[in-house]
Amino acid sequence: MSEPILNLSRISKSFGGVGVLNDVSFHVEKGARHALIGPNGAGKTTLFNVISGIHEPDKGKVFFEGKDLNGVPSRKRIKRGLSRSFQNIRLMPHLSVLENVMLGQHSRYAFLDMIKPLSLSSRSTGKTEAIETLRSFNIDLHKGQTVSSLPYGIRKKIEVVRALMAQPRLLLLDEPAAGLNTAETNSLRDFLLEVSDRGITFLLVDHDMPFINSLCKKVSVMNFGQLIYDGAIKDLKKDKKVLEAYLGVDGENYGEAHA
Ligand SMILES: Nc1ncnc2c1ncn2[C@@H]1O[C@H](COP(=O)(O)OP(=O)(O)O)[C@@H](O)[C@H]1O
Ligand SMILES: [Mg+2]
Repeated sequence: MSEPILNLSRISKSFGGVGVLNDVSFHVEKGARHALIGPNGAGKTTLFNVISGIHEPDKGKVFFEGKDLNGVPSRKRIKRGLSRSFQNIRLMPHLSVLENVMLGQHSRYAFLDMIKPLSLSSRSTGKTEAIETLRSFNIDLHKGQTVSSLPYGIRKKIEVVRALMAQPRLLLLDEPAAGLNTAETNSLRDFLLEVSDRGITFLLVDHDMPFINSLCKKVSVMNFGQLIYDGAIKDLKKDKKVLEAYLGVDGENYGEAHA
């Protein structure tokens, strides 16, 4: 068995006295494509916020590559190799694709480099690298276009490419396939498989079960802030707690229910 890249140990978090995460523990193995699912409001995004350092947990610890991240601010976590995309696209719509992707490099360059003219700074190397990365994923033909002019499916990929510019070893993806049609979802899946082939581990939250099934082998399931399942995706349908969580909340069958 591979060693864990991320280890969550007994994480609890509440807001205004309301418990949102309750004693959540699981780990993600190095090189894995690991899914995190659960009904809306289960606490998945809050857990991502705890892992990425937006919130400190009230109790429990986050270990990344064996090191306790307690007290380490978000930007330092990115520098250490932990990057994320957001549930709602956070690209700058008025900037070009290339400019947006280059914003993802900021954790690697000194502040002075960011304000120097491009030709005098190491950002010109960064520009070449950003173009190369876009090219390697076949989206460089859009590099000069403003983000607002592009279809949603391409914007979603650009968000992931921007997160990759920080050279992460672990990528947290919060609902990357939300709002995509079937063709766009399939294209995103192939793109994420390529990202994975480059050795990047990811933890993926999404609603789309066929998408998750085609990407991941392991899954952790949350409901009302608690972990209710942690294991192989193939055994998920047999699990009583999981079935109850989905049937109870959405009144739909597993597979069509929201993750
Ligand atoms: N900053 C916050 N302040 C107060 N409540 C929050 C905050 N962030 C999340 N919550 C609450 O935590 C619960 C879980 O939300 P979230 O983590 O977004 O769930 P999920 O991503 O699984 O849909 C929700 O009830 C939400 O309203
Ligand atoms: Mg969410």
